[in-house]
Amino acid sequence: MSIIARQFGRPRGLLGRLVGRGMARGNGEFNRWVVHEVGEHCPDGGDERRIVELGPGPGIGLEEVLRQFPRARVWGVDPSPEMLSQSRKRNATAVEAGRLELVQGDVASLAAVAPVDVVVANHVLYFWHQPGAELARLHGFLRPGGLLALGYQLRRNMPPMAQKHFPREGHLLYDSDDEVAELVRAAGFSAVRHRVKGSPEAPEGRVTLATA
Ligand SMILES: C[S@@+](CC[C@H](N)C(=O)[O-])C[C@H]1O[C@@H](n2cnc3c(N)ncnc32)[C@H](O)[C@@H]1O
Repeated sequence: MSIIARQFGRPRGLLGRLVGRGMARGNGEFNRWVVHEVGEHCPDGGDERRIVELGPGPGIGLEEVLRQFPRARVWGVDPSPEMLSQSRKRNATAVEAGRLELVQGDVASLAAVAPVDVVVANHVLYFWHQPGAELARLHGFLRPGGLLALGYQLRRNMPPMAQKHFPREGHLLYDSDDEVAELVRAAGFSAVRHRVKGSPEAPEGRVTLATA
């Protein structure tokens, strides 16, 4: 099971590709919902913008960003070549048209893209072992007034496998939105707000939105 937990943080090889397909099925709707929330919170509709998705995995969020913001330039940044390959296949037309660039890397890679208008990161927060430092770096790469959208689940709503094995791998789980808000504020963001997908008792996920 800890092999699976590791794969979520850094999908690799055949198992990583299978995990990627599973994420496309299991997280697809949530990823689309987060992008819809981004659209609702972009002051000017997010068009003609520079939008980055960190950790796009199989690329469903990227697909939705490209659909919702047809004039935006979009980057997908992920350390996993396997996930970049799935993102590329899913969004081949946009890559060929030069609208989408896929980059192997992490938050530091945004230096080449900054200033950025929107950063989306779904289910990536757990794998930042120094989340304060990562968020502060992200803040520096967003333009003033730019939007951060962090999608995640709280510990109690995560599958038992993740509750048990993520902490063993050093991954961080969160018990409340306030905990996430505190980190985000300490990194320099303001106007921090939360949205929940689904019922509060059995949420399908949640997003913290914040302004740089
Ligand atoms: C659990 S998957 C989530 C994939 C997709 N966002 C979703 O919601 O289905 C986490 C993804 O984040 C990537 N990742 C892990 N650490 C990262 C980091 N420091 N920066 C960017 N991406 C990272 C992994 O390679 C993986 O593709």
